[in-house]
Amino acid sequence: MTAPTSLSQDELKTLVGQAALQYVVPGELVGVGTGSTVNKFIDALASIKDSIRGAVSSSEASTARLKALGIPVLDANDVRLLSVYIDGADEIDGNGYMVKGGGAALTREKIVAALARRFVCIADESKLVNVLGAFPLPVEVIPMAAAYIARRFESLGGQATLRLKDGQPLVTDNGQHILDVRGLTISDPLAFETEVNQWPGVVTVGVFALQKANVCLLGTAQGVRTLS
Ligand code: 5RP
Repeated sequence: MTAPTSLSQDELKTLVGQAALQYVVPGELVGVGTGSTVNKFIDALASIKDSIRGAVSSSEASTARLKALGIPVLDANDVRLLSVYIDGADEIDGNGYMVKGGGAALTREKIVAALARRFVCIADESKLVNVLGAFPLPVEVIPMAAAYIARRFESLGGQATLRLKDGQPLVTDNGQHILDVRGLTISDPLAFETEVNQWPGVVTVGVFALQKANVCLLGTAQGVRTLS
């Protein structure tokens, strides 16, 4: 697929959202992530909704959009296996390792991704990086552990701030808080995710290395580039 160089970031998201339809298996359920790029995918999915069984969603926001378009949403507890999970990323490297959670949905995203055989990441080309860490790393935390976890990131050279919404700590779909950590260079995403996952009070760290993308559809000025 070719694209003129004048495409906006929003149009690139539309392009990859539509391109992701090729990974949806007719007659099956699809795992659906969260964010502005996934919203484009959900809109595209509506055009083939009669050929799928429905979706398993990673956030209240995506669930609302899916239902508004007439796509049935199933509870993750009622599903054993998904053929594919489609989601965006805040950063992705050449190995398929990602930083996610800009939309605060990282925990449910990891859960739905864990149910899927294949993770297809959809992103515009601004998300492709050599090394993860320039985007502030989202970490979902139990509120009483936020200060402790922030100090542990300080010891790694990171500065953690509590994400706010309307002047109050943002509360996730799971009733927890989000720390955004700046100043990290995540050169070994697998080791980093494994380490931070073990800190008391961490619900989910926004590094997706243990569950990396198997395929990335990247929206570029030249069209959709597939990394796998
Ligand atoms: C939400 C996410 C999103 O996938 C990520 O923030 C990318 O979002 P967008 O497509 O809006 O750039 O991880 O928690």
